[in-house]
Amino acid sequence: QPLVVAIDGPSGSGKSSTARGVARRLGLDFLDTGAMYRACAWEAARTGAETPEQIAAVVTAAELQVTTDPDDPRISINGTDVTREIRDPEVSATVSRVATVPEVRVDLVLRQQQIIGEATRGIVAEGRDITTVVAPHAPVRVLLVADPDARVARRQAELGEKVDTAQVTDQVIRRDRDDSTVATFTEAAEGVTVVDSTHLSLDEVVDRIVRLAEE
Ligand code: CDP
Repeated sequence: QPLVVAIDGPSGSGKSSTARGVARRLGLDFLDTGAMYRACAWEAARTGAETPEQIAAVVTAAELQVTTDPDDPRISINGTDVTREIRDPEVSATVSRVATVPEVRVDLVLRQQQIIGEATRGIVAEGRDITTVVAPHAPVRVLLVADPDARVARRQAELGEKVDTAQVTDQVIRRDRDDSTVATFTEAAEGVTVVDSTHLSLDEVVDRIVRLAEE
C-alpha cells in the first residue's frame, strides 16, 4: 500500500517546505491542499462570487487540475494556470471566507482524497484538516506547530523585504482567527505527533518526519 504522510499546521508553520522536503527524501508525491482553497478563492474573485451560495456554486462546478511533483507543483482552475497568482495578498486575505463554506470543504476534501488514492508511489499531503478529515488513517500524521513570532518571521522571509512586520503579523494572526472554525491547533488529534519547529531548522524538521515514516 502506498505510503501517505499527513501534515497539518497553521500559517507560517513551515508545512509546505517541510512537506516538499519529506516528499523529495522519500520519493513521494506532494499535495498542497491550501493551493486548492486558494485557487477556488481566486476563481470566486474572478467571477464575482460573494455569497456562500455563489461561492459554493463556483467551486462545485470548477475543473481543478493539480500536479503532485514536489519539485514543480502546479494548479489550474477552469483551464487557467494560477500557480503564481494564488500567492497574491488579495487571495491570502479572502481564502478563509471561501474555505469556511461547508459545501466547498465537502467538495475539496473529496477531490483531495481522490488525488491521494491515485498516488501510486505514495504522497505527502499538507493542510489544516489532513490528519483529521482528509486522511485520518494515514500511517504518519504530524501537526507542525511554531510560536507566532517564529511563524511571522518565516512568512516575512518568504515574502521578502518589501513587506513590513506589522502587516505580516496582522496577516498571520488574522488568518489563525479566520481559520479557527476549520481546525484548532492547540492540541493534536489522537495519534498525531506534534513537531514544534520554533527552534528547529527545515532539515531537522524533515529528518524527524522521515524518521517517523521509517519506523
Ligand atoms: O501556507 P498558509 O498557511 O499561508 O496557507 P495555505 O496552506 O496556503 O492555506 C490557505 C488557506 O486555505 C488557509 O488559511 C485555510 O483557510 C484554507 N485551508 C483549509 O481550509 N484547509 C486545508 N486543508 C488547507 C487550507
